[in-house]
Amino acid sequence: MASGSENEDGNREGASWRLIGPASELSKKRCRLMHSSLGHDSDVCLFYVKGEFFAMDARCSHSGGPLCEGDIEEADGVLQVFCPWHDYDFDLRTGKSGTSLQQQVYEVKQEDGNVYVKHASRLSLQPFPVDQKS
Ligand code: FES
Repeated sequence: MASGSENEDGNREGASWRLIGPASELSKKRCRLMHSSLGHDSDVCLFYVKGEFFAMDARCSHSGGPLCEGDIEEADGVLQVFCPWHDYDFDLRTGKSGTSLQQQVYEVKQEDGNVYVKHASRLSLQPFPVDQKS
């Protein structure tokens, strides 16, 4: 058994930069759903708003609403997404909500024209094959 090696996939402690794709493509849509290799509960939204990318957990921390489908508004320079289910607001930059809920956000960087998100699991614009049956 190998010791001291890091399991890149599914290691919650060690978030790594995950290549998502070219910024020129990803910026064509306001939001993309990124599938997590850890399962649907860990899927992430990649927002592109006002020339900037933001990443946050795709399922609302209230009751799991799809934040990718939420409206985005700016108030006093703060960009917020509104959950389509109960209209709770979340700051795209910090994940904070006026409701005191906190949505997990992730760092995003651009390098050589590509977008990367720092996350503990692999992220993919395509769903991962389902190999577990319950
Ligand atoms: S599920 Fe998002 S506000 Fe209720």
